[in-house]
Amino acid sequence: MEEIFYYRNNRLHCDEIDLQEFSRSKRTPFYLYSQKRIEQNCQTVIEAGKDLDFLPCYALKANYNPAILKLIQNLGFGADVVSGGELFFALRAGFPPKKIVFAGVGKTASEIELAIRTGIHSLNIESAEEFYLTREIAGKLKIETPVAFRINPDIGAPTHDYISTGKHLNKFGIPLNDALRLYQQAFEDKWLKPVGIHVHIGSQITDPKPFLETAEYLKDIIDQLRKKGFEISALDLGGGIGIDYYNDFKKPQREYPLKTILPSYLRAFKNLGVKLVVELGRSIVGDAGLLITRVLYRKQTPVKKFLIVDAAMNNLLRPSLYHAYHSVVPLILNDNAKDRFDVVGPVCESGDFLATDREMPLTERGDLLAVGGAGAYGQVLASNYNLRPSIPEYLVSGKEVRTIFKGQTAEELAQKYDW
Ligand SMILES: Cc1ncc(COP(=O)(O)O)c(C=O)c1O
Repeated sequence: MEEIFYYRNNRLHCDEIDLQEFSRSKRTPFYLYSQKRIEQNCQTVIEAGKDLDFLPCYALKANYNPAILKLIQNLGFGADVVSGGELFFALRAGFPPKKIVFAGVGKTASEIELAIRTGIHSLNIESAEEFYLTREIAGKLKIETPVAFRINPDIGAPTHDYISTGKHLNKFGIPLNDALRLYQQAFEDKWLKPVGIHVHIGSQITDPKPFLETAEYLKDIIDQLRKKGFEISALDLGGGIGIDYYNDFKKPQREYPLKTILPSYLRAFKNLGVKLVVELGRSIVGDAGLLITRVLYRKQTPVKKFLIVDAAMNNLLRPSLYHAYHSVVPLILNDNAKDRFDVVGPVCESGDFLATDREMPLTERGDLLAVGGAGAYGQVLASNYNLRPSIPEYLVSGKEVRTIFKGQTAEELAQKYDW
């Protein structure tokens, strides 16, 4: 596969853009995404599902910049939403209602009503009480409402506890026996139309095993439902496929879990006569994004060396939230000696770091660094903590760079309060 981020003459490029050159006149920090990489990832998904009855959806939660949504929509994807806000953005970006699935443990009555009126592909129900409320609203509106049941399979995934979602100690989904009971009630209801089941076992999973284990589990459930005489037309397999956060762009990327996991996962359901839905977020946009940041100061204590940079936990929360690893590389490679640093931001929290104890070549004030794997769960998790305005986003395609978010100013933050 064509490399999108690479060093040429020791200078980091995205597509045809020399990032040092590009950054010279730009306010830092900023996010920069590669259109080509997003397209490659989408094509990999489409290829994995070819010859199958397949609806690939993009999980908006990973990155809902409108330019990115339109790009993915144009490639024929559907949308996975978890709030009225995401449903609104998905519709605005042109995703057809029949290609939208709506999950989430805490849908409000007005979100359920909006989804029903919109005529989406399915509302993925996550509790008995949500089911009863949906049934009541569908009955009042007298609109046929397709529902799926998110099953909690009690399958562990080798990932961080906060993004493991398929165990009984997690808040997500419904235990199997309860879901089967609700499926029957939906079947007997005038307005609800049970279309299938849904699972999502967690995120940033790079091992195929938990997916294949889930496949066996799901096939057994389909068997049970069909033996009871219930129709099942769709199987929503969730998302969760991981990316290579260790890529330092010096060599061709080693790992591409999307390609090694998705085709075999989908093919495990071949000939079952169900439409296969996936809801991929991170694996579509994660490795398509960089966070570019500038070294403000170097600092040393008796036990540590710090690089203080201008990006912080309020821009990229993943390291602070999950101790997530992101590669941090210089925009210009040099032969400088290496040392170990904590790369930290200006926010007033000791938990504000982008990398800890990381071996890196020595840098100076003003040098630029790129944080890899920043396309998913980056800008969407950002906050204005310490009154730091949100940062710009750019989209690269070949030699072109488009500003897809201009960033905020402190003045605009004041305006949020009509101040
Ligand atoms: C229900 C559901 N579907 C899809 C996703 C997207 O996951 P990922 O970005 O790991 O593909 C998530 C992420 O939390 C989710 O909760």
